[in-house]
Amino acid sequence: MVRQPYAESLDYGMLQCTDLLESHNELTARLRAFLLAVVVGDLPLARQGLISFAALLEAHSLAEDQILLPAFTDLGLETNGCSLDILQKEHRKLRRLLAEARQRVFADGVKLTPAMRLLWIEDTRLLKEVLDHHDVRERAAFHPAFDSALEQAEAAALAGETQALEHKLEAQLLAQYSAEYAL
Ligand SMILES: [Fe+2]
Ligand SMILES: [Fe+2]
Repeated sequence: MVRQPYAESLDYGMLQCTDLLESHNELTARLRAFLLAVVVGDLPLARQGLISFAALLEAHSLAEDQILLPAFTDLGLETNGCSLDILQKEHRKLRRLLAEARQRVFADGVKLTPAMRLLWIEDTRLLKEVLDHHDVRERAAFHPAFDSALEQAEAAALAGETQALEHKLEAQLLAQYSAEYAL
């Protein structure tokens, strides 16, 4: 599942950095879809759901790492509660937990027995907690800081560049995972 470019639904010239938070809502929805597939014991759907979630989470955090984080420090927007170091650490932790989840879900011969379903749901809880925590931090002190500090046209350009990279990476990762896991 690849989302339509935002350009089709938004006036690109009015784009703001806070609009990038829409991906956080999408991540929450995709993680929930994965968990629902686990609950009903549908392994192919769970695998598809995890890949869809993974591609977006990795693309989103990598696009932030490459474009928004350098801009954040350049503009002097770091605070004690939202620094480059904190954000980079959280991104790394999210990607590590995600890699572990992919290993579990794509292990050879795995069967979604009731015990396995419970285990996956429990294992996903930490990932969800870190994700929620990160969402709160970025909503409070990351994306809005750009929109406050920059002129509207500058914020739109920064958001547009970040969004374009996120979409490109997401499509690449989806293709890569689909090939890797023969989905
Ligand atoms: Fe984010
Ligand atoms: Fe982030």
